[in-house]
Amino acid sequence: MSANLALIDSARLMKRHKAMMRIGATGRGGVNRLALSPEDTAARTALLEWAVSRGFSASIDPAGNLFVRRSGIDDQAPPVVTGSHLDSQPTGGNFDGVFGVLAAFEALEALEDRLIQTMRPIELVVWMNEEGARFAPTTMGSGAFAGVLPLPEILTTRDGDGITVADALATSIATLEKSTPLARRPLGTRAHAYIETHIEQGPILDAADIAIGIVTGVQGLRQFEIVVSGVERHAGTTPKHQRKDALASARAIITAIEAECADDEDLVRFTVGRMEVRPGVLNTIPSEVVFTVDLRHPQAATLDRLAASIETAARTHAAPCTASVRPLLASAPTVFDPALIGRIAEACDRLGYSRRDLISGATHDAKHLADRCASGMIFIPCRDGISHNEAESAEPEHMIAGAAVLAEVVLGLAME
Ligand code: HGY
Ligand code: MN
Ligand code: MN
Repeated sequence: MSANLALIDSARLMKRHKAMMRIGATGRGGVNRLALSPEDTAARTALLEWAVSRGFSASIDPAGNLFVRRSGIDDQAPPVVTGSHLDSQPTGGNFDGVFGVLAAFEALEALEDRLIQTMRPIELVVWMNEEGARFAPTTMGSGAFAGVLPLPEILTTRDGDGITVADALATSIATLEKSTPLARRPLGTRAHAYIETHIEQGPILDAADIAIGIVTGVQGLRQFEIVVSGVERHAGTTPKHQRKDALASARAIITAIEAECADDEDLVRFTVGRMEVRPGVLNTIPSEVVFTVDLRHPQAATLDRLAASIETAARTHAAPCTASVRPLLASAPTVFDPALIGRIAEACDRLGYSRRDLISGATHDAKHLADRCASGMIFIPCRDGISHNEAESAEPEHMIAGAAVLAEVVLGLAME
């Protein structure tokens, strides 16, 4: 094991993690820290207070991405950026996103403890709304940072209560500034490299008892919102031929898409995660159904073909209702930087951690960064691959391994 392992203060990392587990705790083992909610803001506040106590500076961009900066000798050089997200699913676990933020912060603290001066500045980033649970789509803040999602569009996006991102962000910043000075910065600043640590959220590493996953890429992702419009009528008196039942048509559309997505290799990931039925009363025929589609596949051509079939299914199976399809996010399969992949492998070997390459089934902010700078990800196992579930869990030894490898890679990048 290299001396660098000593660089990571395991006790401090675990203490910070325990503190974060309390913020937005549901009482059922997980957390609910929806993007820009008071709970998400409380987690951001805790991080900023820790950062200020270490002498780091803090800034925020117009999309609500939060940065904690440790200066470098050549402080004008593009920084090494590392981080993840603090927002969670409504029934989120204690590791998704937050582990990557805490591992990044531990790397900064470890360098500070050792008074290691890096050539480049290092910036920890907390991406705004990675989950897309409150405001669709996912990876909203990093998508704006990378210019993939137009800033005006995300700022006017509303949650289920009609609150816009802009208003929620203004409220969140006002709370943050009560405890920490927060500079403003432009969107999309240059980065020398980006590296993110995250739980795998799938079963591969856990099943193989491997400590580190070196992520070679992220599978493609398309997200849509589909609105089916019919006519409210009495459930008891309206004969079939007079019905324009939005839920019956939505069911037909979903069944048609499912048929298209059937594959023996079990590679297609098709999910209808949210469905709203209006007026949502047991004895009135639904006049409107709004539902989401989350579609993923590692191959671009297959993903594009299946995405096109969604439009076709909506057009051919909506009758006697009508249907509209609104694309929310189109994210092609991503390949991470081979040199960075090599660095992560070398760090694992130096530190004596088992490792294997793998593609990420989940999407991540790193996917957007890959279009702007050398980017990579380090995975650690989570038990049975369970995630987006309050039972999500990871072993302390794997958290420490992930943070130790991250610190090693960040240090190397920041010295070049
Ligand atoms: O949707 C995703 O893949 C990410 O976990 N938010
Ligand atoms: Mn995540
Ligand atoms: Mn997630």
